[in-house]
Amino acid sequence: MKGIVLSGGSGTRLYPITKSFTKQLLPIYDKPMIYYPLSVLLLSGIRDILIITTPDDIHLYQKLLGDGSQLGVSFSYLIQEKPRGIAQAFIVGEDFIGDDNVCLVLGDNIFHGSSLVDRLKEAASKKKGATIFGYPVNNPMEFGVVSFDQNGKALEITEKPACPKSNYAVPGLYFYDNRVVDIAKNISPSARGEYEITSVNNEYLRMGELDVITFGRGMAWLDTGTPKGMLKAAEYVETVQERQGYYIACLEEIAWRSGYISTDHLFELGSQLSKTDYGQYILSLINHNDRG
Ligand code: G1P
Repeated sequence: MKGIVLSGGSGTRLYPITKSFTKQLLPIYDKPMIYYPLSVLLLSGIRDILIITTPDDIHLYQKLLGDGSQLGVSFSYLIQEKPRGIAQAFIVGEDFIGDDNVCLVLGDNIFHGSSLVDRLKEAASKKKGATIFGYPVNNPMEFGVVSFDQNGKALEITEKPACPKSNYAVPGLYFYDNRVVDIAKNISPSARGEYEITSVNNEYLRMGELDVITFGRGMAWLDTGTPKGMLKAAEYVETVQERQGYYIACLEEIAWRSGYISTDHLFELGSQLSKTDYGQYILSLINHNDRG
């Protein structure tokens, strides 16, 4: 399975912060925002990852992440000329996807929780159809919203509904079989002129091939759409890391625990960052020798 991180958009809701800088590289506490969605792909077992971004920002992502070899994975980069909707990621990434299934994660979505890895593995192991998620929120009208019948079967997904039929938002994390490329080519733009990911999901629903996994208590899906959301997300990360001593979205740790890089290599990566708590954390993993 291939992975795509969509890191485009103009980030107007965060102006003036994002007037001259890309949103998904802003810090969430101690690491760039994109580390969090990247960690989700790595935790799903995905090693071949495409980052789609804007012409202005592509070099910044390349500078930060390189070709992925330092993590034992592969990062490639493509440009989305204009932000015309999430579903365009599959058209931009068509050659990259090839004959594979694909997971798409939005570059500003942060997930954390003990049940996450199992859910990710479940979705990634499915060969046919699509899997999306449902997460209860207080402000569903700001998202894609999925409604269910009495038996918990998904009925409909609506993009930013004025009167939401449920409080289950659809987070920016989607697993699809290879048909998604053709489906994305055949949807029409919405009233706001975008090729909506919700239209893709509704097509899978119509074909009877959409699974919706709901996240319950104890899972965090954090909002980074506003300055306040970013501050709260940073506080969450700081609180969990400080309290537990486990880092959220430490890519080097995930690569090492997944067996993609050796302990010697992890030591090298930690040493390069040894002036920071982040680097010290990486080095501490080796000292505790708890590859797990
Ligand atoms: C997008 C999707 C929406 C989804 C959300 C998750 O909204 O269109 O369905 O719930 O991401 O972050 P946007 O952030 O582009 O407004």
